[in-house]
Amino acid sequence: MTYQKIKVRQLGGAGGAEITGVDLACADDETIAEIHRAMHEFLVVTLPDQPIDDAQLARFTSRLGPFGLEPFVEGDTTHPNVIAVVKEADEVRRLNFGGNWHSDWSFLETPPSYTLLHARELPPFGGDTLFANQYLAFESLSPGMQALLKGMQAVHSARRPYGPNSHNANGGHLRSMKIKTGPEAMAEFVHPVVRTHPATGREALFVNRVYAIRLAEMTEPESAPLLNYLTEHSVRPEFIVRVSWRPNMLTIWDNRVVQHLAVNDYDGYRRELHRTSVLGEVPVLVTQ
Ligand code: SIN
Repeated sequence: MTYQKIKVRQLGGAGGAEITGVDLACADDETIAEIHRAMHEFLVVTLPDQPIDDAQLARFTSRLGPFGLEPFVEGDTTHPNVIAVVKEADEVRRLNFGGNWHSDWSFLETPPSYTLLHARELPPFGGDTLFANQYLAFESLSPGMQALLKGMQAVHSARRPYGPNSHNANGGHLRSMKIKTGPEAMAEFVHPVVRTHPATGREALFVNRVYAIRLAEMTEPESAPLLNYLTEHSVRPEFIVRVSWRPNMLTIWDNRVVQHLAVNDYDGYRRELHRTSVLGEVPVLVTQ
């Protein structure tokens, strides 16, 4: 694909691209359209050197679509649709937010299509974010397994991290983040195990170990062997793109076709990023 308004440099074999030559605070519609195209081609895009505030982050987000929901986390920023992802220097040996492989809010009927994360304060080392390409995860399976999975659905729920008996409910959450827990996290939603991207038409694996709790119409023990295989397979090293943050860098990922993990390797240092999301659609598998 060619781009006229932006410069694009691929980050890794599994995708990811750095986009330069853009000022997000005043980008025209053609530039936004090219960024959107690059997101579909590379799944994860980074835009370095974007010194935007919360209002500008929200304005840019709304050019990609309506805001997504942010259940279980309170914003704590200067804009109602922006949430702060923070770990303080003294929060050592604690689970960090986003520290297990997941796709954002996959337990919702309409999980976000895109998530945007803007770096405000970074540790002197570490604190990278890893992304796993779920097109590759699906395409690398055998034809037999692909056919089997196309007939399956998985039950997603927020209960493990946000339910009444969760680690977060028992004081395990980061003091620096306003996490909500409660019985509403017990709700379940069924999604196809393989979903079709509405713009690219490609098929991607859509299960993750935080929110996909069992396969539909099976018990947890019955589904565990296959689900564990899939969640391990889906984050194999060759599917991964690593994003190393710089101050004022914005990263956008296509949440429908990547999983991500925030690496928790910077105890003793503060890290703060601000996040928005774009409302997605009901995940579907389009069968020809
Ligand atoms: C998240 O899961 O949104 C957090 C990612 C990060 O902090 O790198």
